[in-house]
Amino acid sequence: MTAQLDSLGRLRHLLSLETLDRQMIESLLDRADTFLRPGGELPARTSALEGRTVTNLFFEPSTRTRASFELAAKRLGADVLSLDVSTSSRAKGESLLDTIRTLQAMSVDIFVVRDAQAGVPDYIAGLVEPHVSILNAGESHVNHPTQGLLDVLTIRRHKGAFGNLAVAIVGDIQHSRVARSTGQALVTLGVGELRLVAPEGLAPDPAEFPQARFTGLEEGLQDADVVMALRVQKERMAASEIPDAADYFRRFGLTPERMALARDDAIVMHPGPMNRNVEISDVVADCPNSVIEEQVTHGVAVRMAVMEAVMATIHAEATMTPVAAGERR
Ligand code: NCD
Repeated sequence: MTAQLDSLGRLRHLLSLETLDRQMIESLLDRADTFLRPGGELPARTSALEGRTVTNLFFEPSTRTRASFELAAKRLGADVLSLDVSTSSRAKGESLLDTIRTLQAMSVDIFVVRDAQAGVPDYIAGLVEPHVSILNAGESHVNHPTQGLLDVLTIRRHKGAFGNLAVAIVGDIQHSRVARSTGQALVTLGVGELRLVAPEGLAPDPAEFPQARFTGLEEGLQDADVVMALRVQKERMAASEIPDAADYFRRFGLTPERMALARDDAIVMHPGPMNRNVEISDVVADCPNSVIEEQVTHGVAVRMAVMEAVMATIHAEATMTPVAAGERR
């Protein structure tokens, strides 16, 4: 994998949470915290990215993640370009490499990339010029690092320390990049227990989650502090594999009755978009313990923290004295 950190340990690209250490994750969360404002107040703004250009390259559909990155970049003062996949040249057959080169020639500093194919953000990070940064905004079923960060930020703001927490992730874990990235961040932060509840046929290879406990639904929810529902990723399944919605809800939907097994103060999470009354009932999605909208708010703050961090690295490297630059070779 392309290195995410430079030789001094600073964030250069954000491709995966798998190799980020606790200190780096915590420093990004701490910075994101400072961008949060009480509802109704004006959102935080800085000029950290003034004069810089951020391009959203989404080769897979997205509403909230794309809007979130766009607002985060604007609130840092950047110029933002969001390319629509349906009108992009890649759809016309231009290679990804040519698309990147073309945009790079227009002085793009940060590419935010979402792709259905595993390896694409890493591949691009290996190609771009040294002063350009790649942020992974969702990569097949394998990585969604900013979602992982916003999830652990949300949990930390409600529950404080991770050591005593039981976190249950429920649903289509096999196809979920959210389960992977959030699970990795939780483990790095020392979560007490990570429980994975996957319906038959939607369980991942346990080797991918060596620190997790695979459980049934009731056991997974019992006294949980955090319950995260996941969407059934139909777009990553063959038509014959797609479960029947009503049957899925009956067997795995988060209902008030099932949530009663969790702790009274358990928070309910979902990365969105929700399939109401498939993986989660309306009542649970909208209950007082639901923090689903807060997750969205925290997403902007986390993306601001990440973009600020990579920009600071790029800036520091560009302004390095020749002597220091020589030493690095
Ligand atoms: C998730 C994604 O795209 O991986 N959504 C998101 O980023 N908010 C989860 C999903 O699509 O189910």
